[in-house]
Amino acid sequence: MSVPFIDLRRFEPDFMERWMEIARRVSENTAFVGGPEVTKLEESLRKRANCAAVVGCANGTDALQLALRAVDVGPGDVVLLPDATFWATFEAVVNVGARPATVDIDLTDGQMDFDLFVQAVEKFQPKAALLVHLYGWSSARLDEFRAFCRERDLPLVEDGAQSFGTTWNGKSIYEDALITTTSFYPAKVLGSCGDAGAVYCATQELADKVRLLGNHGRVSHYEHGLVGWNSRMGGFDAAWLNLTLEYIDERLASRRKACEWYDARLMEFGARIIGPPEGYVANGYLHVTLQDPDLRNAMIENLKEKGIGSATVYPGAMSRQPGAKGWITGTVGDKNADLLCRGVLNLPLFHGMREEELEEVRVAYGTALAAAGTAA
Ligand SMILES: Cc1ncc(COP(=O)(O)O)c(C=O)c1O
Repeated sequence: MSVPFIDLRRFEPDFMERWMEIARRVSENTAFVGGPEVTKLEESLRKRANCAAVVGCANGTDALQLALRAVDVGPGDVVLLPDATFWATFEAVVNVGARPATVDIDLTDGQMDFDLFVQAVEKFQPKAALLVHLYGWSSARLDEFRAFCRERDLPLVEDGAQSFGTTWNGKSIYEDALITTTSFYPAKVLGSCGDAGAVYCATQELADKVRLLGNHGRVSHYEHGLVGWNSRMGGFDAAWLNLTLEYIDERLASRRKACEWYDARLMEFGARIIGPPEGYVANGYLHVTLQDPDLRNAMIENLKEKGIGSATVYPGAMSRQPGAKGWITGTVGDKNADLLCRGVLNLPLFHGMREEELEEVRVAYGTALAAAGTAA
């Protein structure tokens, strides 16, 4: 049996039929950009996060750019970000005219290292910082990040693209953020039927600015209070997301169960697993193992031969991307990010995974590990 890295088609039995009806209604109402589905979604997301306001937008990268602009990051400003993240985090800083500086990660949780972050603040005197909640959880020191930034009036933008549904000390991870974002790219935990994203704000004032920026700075239809761009959410995306939200708790439970299954069963191979620190209930976005970098490619090939998908999220640190040249202002450490990027291996994980699929992956993983070791 082959098992893909991700299968987006594990719809609940009544999902498609319900979607067809909804799609017809959205079409008949021609509510293609913004509209009632977007308003409904923003309110549902706000309630789940227990924050002041949520603004839907075109994608998770725009969400970051909107958030950065909303906290007044602009040309020439330095913004700190972790060296291990998706490239969009780096790009967002550059796209608002600012200069990115990267900070190494802590290998125990895979997240930006708080002590190095403090050093980086001293070194670069940044205008803002971006903290990424990578893999579906975040730093063991999240409260310290937030308190440190609050005390210094340093806006902390949290990239929550991967952390929809994650809780920290019993609350949504989005709840106590000044401003945080998410992505509804289809492969995300709450995925849309296209590109979409959202910005979660701690104040209505921030949300108003985000909304203005994402709609051409409009104060009325043809009056523009500032220069923004078009990052409005589409009606189909919002409708799909509203429907998906009705199933999301079961989907989260299914992902979490699969993660726990891996954690328990991969022990027998002595797998090195990076997982959420105490205090988190991760959303099961990704399962993260750390391999010997010299054996990883052989393992991937071996898994592929057995029909098992895998991923390396992400295979290269930000500071080492060819595209970083000319944009990056500096770094504070990069050793751990590089180690993580060269060793990370993610096994198949999606909602609705069946136990026989997990078992197939387990067996293939053990064989691949042994084969890679032999090959080396
Ligand atoms: C950490 C992180 N930030 C930002 C993004 C960008 O989101 P989008 O693809 O919706 O633009 C992603 C999406 O993969 C992500 O994983």
